[in-house]
Amino acid sequence: MTLSTEQTPRTGELIKTLPASYYTDPAILEIEQKEIFAKSWQYVGTTDALSKPGDFITVDLVGVPIVVSRSKDGVHAMVNVCRHRFHEVASGCGNTRAFKCPYHAWTYGLDGSLIGAPRSQQVENFDKAEFPLERLPVAVWGPLVFVSLKTDIQPFEEWIGPVDASLRATGMNLDLLVMRKRTTFDIACNWKVVAENYLECYHCQVAHPNYSRTFDTTPVGYTFDTDQQSFIANTSPQAKILTDEGAAPYKMQGPISVNQNDYVWPNFAPMTWPGQNNLLVYSFRPVAADHTIGYFDYFFEEGNDQQAEEEFIAFLDEVGAEDVPLIESVQRGMASGRLEIGRLVPDEQQIEHFQNLVRAAVAL
Ligand code: FES
Ligand SMILES: [Fe+2]
Repeated sequence: MTLSTEQTPRTGELIKTLPASYYTDPAILEIEQKEIFAKSWQYVGTTDALSKPGDFITVDLVGVPIVVSRSKDGVHAMVNVCRHRFHEVASGCGNTRAFKCPYHAWTYGLDGSLIGAPRSQQVENFDKAEFPLERLPVAVWGPLVFVSLKTDIQPFEEWIGPVDASLRATGMNLDLLVMRKRTTFDIACNWKVVAENYLECYHCQVAHPNYSRTFDTTPVGYTFDTDQQSFIANTSPQAKILTDEGAAPYKMQGPISVNQNDYVWPNFAPMTWPGQNNLLVYSFRPVAADHTIGYFDYFFEEGNDQQAEEEFIAFLDEVGAEDVPLIESVQRGMASGRLEIGRLVPDEQQIEHFQNLVRAAVAL
């Protein structure tokens, strides 16, 4: 993907949105869970919780309990369901030598191999090799860990590729980053409202005064590029922010000079910002058709200026919080039953692309 250098505003026709019922109907969410979230790479945690052999975390992924562990051979992801009679084998997080199921003590190694089962000597021809925990694809991207419920998934490197290359081209050094802070947004709207709001900056000048004072959010200043399943948005600080250090909301000196707001289908949105080495990851997952949990995970480099980090977090948390009432209002409008189809203007073309991905996955 090549970055856009367009210098004139986009033009085009009004485009029809997805029907409002796609955002309110629990039956659609059920299909999306199966066809979208259970078939894509999902961000599940960070490597700081998996730094030494024996470390493990457990997560729920689309209703499936998962355990991710580190052994001396690397990181493993498994379905956290005992092969004996379905009990969860691991709980919480921590460090262990093996996973001993709390029900009847079948015991699994850190890579999911069954290593012991009480009374199995009473079973004729019991072969432990037949009963490992189900293994899942797992990938590590800098300090982030991803798992897929689908076993024949697109290679992770291919999925993250365009966004990885684009973020690194800004000067962001992923490999030096550690997670510093998580901000949680509990939002009364459909996950697609969250994604679509992130995928346009048409609302920035209206709804994000501090962001728009700091960055160029005009139709020519805020550029988008759309690939098959990646979206890359770029903007730069306003000229007066660069010349007047006191006017910036946080200290912007550092190796990164642009703001890049990226997205990889379906629910992973990594950003980087001018200043010290940083990555802000926005991830969101549906809880119900009208309920989404979003996370801002802040990653910084050891030794960064702390005050600059704190000001940076305050600035971005404010932008994130400004979106919540907007997208909750959108959900109420969708639930009103009085307007089935909305419209997209040319500066929202990447939403059309997103909605086509939804249409293709849901195939209704
Ligand atoms: S369910 Fe795990 S040992 Fe019985
Ligand atoms: Fe916004």
